[in-house]
Amino acid sequence: MQEKKTIVLTGDRPTGRLHLGHYVGSIQNRLALEATADKAFYMIADVQALTDNADNPEKVRNNVLEVALDNLAAGMDPTKTTMFIQSEVPEIAELTIFFLNLITVAKLEQNPTIKTEMKEKGFVMSGEDTTADPTDKTVKIRNVPAGFLCYPVSQAADILAFRANKVPVGNDQLPVLEAANDIGGKFNSFYGDVFDRIEALTSSAGRLVGLDGGAKMSKSLGNAIYLSDSKEEIEKKVMAMYTDPAHIRVEDPGKVEGNVVFAYLDIFDIDKAAVADLKAQYEKGGLGDVTIKRRLVDVLESVIAPIREKREDLAKNPEAIMELLKNGTEKARKTAAETLAEVRRAMKIDYF
Ligand code: TRP
Repeated sequence: MQEKKTIVLTGDRPTGRLHLGHYVGSIQNRLALEATADKAFYMIADVQALTDNADNPEKVRNNVLEVALDNLAAGMDPTKTTMFIQSEVPEIAELTIFFLNLITVAKLEQNPTIKTEMKEKGFVMSGEDTTADPTDKTVKIRNVPAGFLCYPVSQAADILAFRANKVPVGNDQLPVLEAANDIGGKFNSFYGDVFDRIEALTSSAGRLVGLDGGAKMSKSLGNAIYLSDSKEEIEKKVMAMYTDPAHIRVEDPGKVEGNVVFAYLDIFDIDKAAVADLKAQYEKGGLGDVTIKRRLVDVLESVIAPIREKREDLAKNPEAIMELLKNGTEKARKTAAETLAEVRRAMKIDYF
């Protein structure tokens, strides 16, 4: 028996620059795995981005370079990780078509990630009525694009086309990877053992809350600090951060729980003892919001400054980045084509 290889694959939708939520949720894991994996792939998921941006191709196209820059600036090594563009690997689309038969529409409609994202995007699925008033023209009914509903299927293809078995993702993506494992399992049971199980790797820090204390940091919610933010932007955002609305005067005792500044200090401040002291002081009273916010600005600046500087440097030569993606895509395509040949054999559709 061959020893099992560790093959890592992750991806981002190119719909905007990446933020600290991505950094904590998956980028750090990607970088750690890149060093030890037998093979690593990073995919810019433009096809997936189009599932809810079909009418906005410029946005998707422009952000391909942005997310590549974010990852490289954060430390991704393109000699270790094959970086590629999803739409330029048509084998993924082909595998998606085969996989569509291995999951039901009902399963997709029940997927918790899909349900949450549909709500965020104002999509409604079949059978779901949003109003009792039939004259209300503002209400959209059954408006979810088929491609969006089916993105877990294409994501299964993204991963399995490369036989990846380790996938670093934010924990909001876990149900999508579960669906991918259902699909891979079904494939094996119908056509013979071809695919390994996929292991999801989430961050131990969990999900980063938004600046407003909202459940998650997200571009669409407008509560994010970007890896490319200037020091001034970081300052402005931290100073407006949600703390404890009842903590009005410095002398007042304040709440640490639910306080976004402390949530971020817990994750990013390496001096844990100092943070513990600050928390105790804050709870007792006598520690002002501005003091803890200033500390957080410094901490975040020390994380972001090197990324921002490297990003600015790399951004001077976009042609070099596109060349790197082109080479990565060629390499990725070869791997996917090998898998597809095996898939066709297993499915008995290898005619010629
Ligand atoms: N759905 C992922 C996200 O929104 C992006 C993605 C696409 C992905 N294909 C992938 C992540 C394959 C991991 C593996 O963040």
